[in-house]
Amino acid sequence: MPIGITALGTYAPTRVLTNQDLEGMFDTTDEWIVSRTGIRERHLADKDDFASDMGVRSVNDLTARSPGALQGVDLVICATSSPDAFFPSTAALIAGRVGLAGAGALDVSVACSGFVYALSVAQGMLMSGAATKVLVVGAEVLSKIIDWNDRTTCILFGDGAGAAIVEAVPEGYGFQSFVLGADSAGGPSLYKLAVADRIPGVPAERANPLLGMNGREVFKFAVRVIGESGEQALNKAGLTGSDIDWLVPHQANVRIIESACGRFGVSMDKTVVNLDRYGNTSTASVPLALCEAIDDGRIKDGDQLLLVAFGGGLSWGASAMKWYGGQRQSTADQQEAVVAG
Ligand code: ACO
Repeated sequence: MPIGITALGTYAPTRVLTNQDLEGMFDTTDEWIVSRTGIRERHLADKDDFASDMGVRSVNDLTARSPGALQGVDLVICATSSPDAFFPSTAALIAGRVGLAGAGALDVSVACSGFVYALSVAQGMLMSGAATKVLVVGAEVLSKIIDWNDRTTCILFGDGAGAAIVEAVPEGYGFQSFVLGADSAGGPSLYKLAVADRIPGVPAERANPLLGMNGREVFKFAVRVIGESGEQALNKAGLTGSDIDWLVPHQANVRIIESACGRFGVSMDKTVVNLDRYGNTSTASVPLALCEAIDDGRIKDGDQLLLVAFGGGLSWGASAMKWYGGQRQSTADQQEAVVAG
C-alpha cells in the first residue's frame, strides 16, 4: 500500500522580527546575519500563543484548502521541540481543538528532524493497521526557549507550524524510503534541558537552562549528515541525485543547504529555500517549505522529492518521495483553472 501526503496547511505568526530589529537589540548587523545564515526575518508568536496554537492554525489552513480532509483521521502526531507541556501531549491538545478528540495522539521529540520522523511513524502506523488516516503536525514556538542573550543562537530561530494528512495514495506515488538516525555523543552541541539540570557532556554549572548550542559543531555535523542521510535515502529507493526534481531541506542555514546541493548535484534553483523569511522553525520548516513550493506551482504532481532534516539529538532524517498532487490543487493551478474556465 503506497502511503503519502494528500493535504497540507501551514501557519506563521503575523509578528515579524527583522535583522534590522535585531540590530537595535544587541551588537549584530543585517550583513553578518545574512552572510552567515541567509536569514533576513523570522515570525514570532504572541506572548500567549504556544505550539498547540501554531499547530491548530496550520490545521485550520489545511482544512480551508482541503475541506473534509480531517474526516477519518484516527491518529494525530505532533513533532515539536517546544511542546506546551510534558503532558498532555501537544498532539492531544491540537486534536481536541480541531474536532479529533478520541483519536490517538502522540508527540515526537527529535528536535528539527521531527517532521521527517513523524512522517515515517505515520507510515509505520498505517502499514501496521494501527491507524487508517494520520494528521501529522510540526509546531514550534522556539522564540520562547531560546537564549535572547546569546546573539549566535537567537538570530536563527522563528515560530510557525505545518500540518499534513498522511494516508494511502495511488500506486507510483508517496514515500519511497526513510532514513532515521541519532547520536547522543553530539547531544552537548544542541540541547534544551527539561527535568534534569544537566546533560551528559556539559558540566552542570555550564548547562544553559534555555536552548544551548555550539554553532560550529552543529554546522559541521549538518553538512556531513544531510549529505550522508540524503544519499542513503536515495540509494534505498534505487535513485541518484540526478533523479531529484526538488530538494526540500530543513531550513537552518543557506550555507548548509548549498553544501547539500553540491553533494547531490542539485542546483539551488531546484532546492526549496524560504529561510530568508522564516528563519529556522525547527519541525515546521520542512512543511513550510514544501507547502510554499506546491502553492506557487514549483512542485507538481509526480515530482521526485528528497526531504532532508537534522537537529538536536544530534539527529537526522531523510525521505525520498513522489509527490501526489491528485487531491489538492496548488494556488497556481487554481488560478490557471479560473483563467481557463
Ligand atoms: N552578530 C555579529 N557577530 C556575531 C554574531 C552575531 N549575531 N554571532 C556571533 N558573532 C561573532 C562571534 O562572536 C565570533 O566573533 P570572534 O571571531 O570575534 O570570536 C564570530 O562572529 C564568528 O562566530 P562563529 O560562531 O564562528 O560564526 P559561524 O560562522 O560559525 O556562524 C552560526 C555561526 C550562524 C550559528 C553557524 O555556526 C551555524 O549556522 N551553525 C548551525 C546552527 C544550526 O543550524 N542550529 C540549528 C540546528 S536544528 C535544531 O535542532 C534546533
